[in-house]
Amino acid sequence: DGGVAASKNEQYVQTVAHRGASGYAPENTMAAFEKAVKMKSDYIEIDVQQTKDGELIVIHDTSVERTTDGSGKVKDLTLEELKQLDAGSWFGEEFIGEKLPTLAEVLDAYRGKSGILIELKSPSLYPGIEEKVAAELTKRNMDKPNNNKIILQSFDHESVETFHSILPSVPTGVLVSYTMSDNNLRDVSRFADYVNPGKWLITSDYVDRIHDNGMLAQTWTVRDEESVEPLIQAGVDGIITDYPDYVNRR
Ligand code: G3P
Ligand code: CA
Repeated sequence: DGGVAASKNEQYVQTVAHRGASGYAPENTMAAFEKAVKMKSDYIEIDVQQTKDGELIVIHDTSVERTTDGSGKVKDLTLEELKQLDAGSWFGEEFIGEKLPTLAEVLDAYRGKSGILIELKSPSLYPGIEEKVAAELTKRNMDKPNNNKIILQSFDHESVETFHSILPSVPTGVLVSYTMSDNNLRDVSRFADYVNPGKWLITSDYVDRIHDNGMLAQTWTVRDEESVEPLIQAGVDGIITDYPDYVNRR
């Protein structure tokens, strides 16, 4: 990953597959990650939470109803219970049998093959989750910058700061749904490498101010092809999208 390019028009924009290529396959499943890699995404984005028995599991919602055939909260179900759920059939019958992946399974399958943007989802529900994620990365030697393409992000900035203090070599990002002031930006730049705003917030001024504070910007979530070009013109460094081919086929 390069730094901030001198010219906005010449910059390389990273394609980040949101929950995998989730426009084409059930989100946060191996099927969606496979499609993302086939579509030449630079990163897959995954949402990580914790099971009742303390395992790290990849799922977006804090309960399982929307994306599986089960019910209940992620934090009240064991890994064994979660692994019995079908995470594919809601999306289409060709995906019957897809399972919720663990973080370990995703790291093992995609290390060296794809960048991985790890989102800690609702980390305040899971005290100590930052340590656990850090341990999974360290165990695999994936905590070395520049050769592993791992980024850790969250809407919970305190959690990002905690993770950074545990594993400062891994790049981090803060997710935001508001425009940050220069003071805010300076403050998060102590522990973050990326500021990742919702796409409706993107202007060249905001992106410039993120860059001026030494950070990069990935924006979310692109679901229509027309959104891509204006975001690139505004100078973003990455586009988080359900449809990686929209960014790649420019
Ligand atoms: O990576 C950005 C995006 O994933 C944040 O929103 O709700 O899809 O996790 P959400
Ligand atoms: Ca996410």
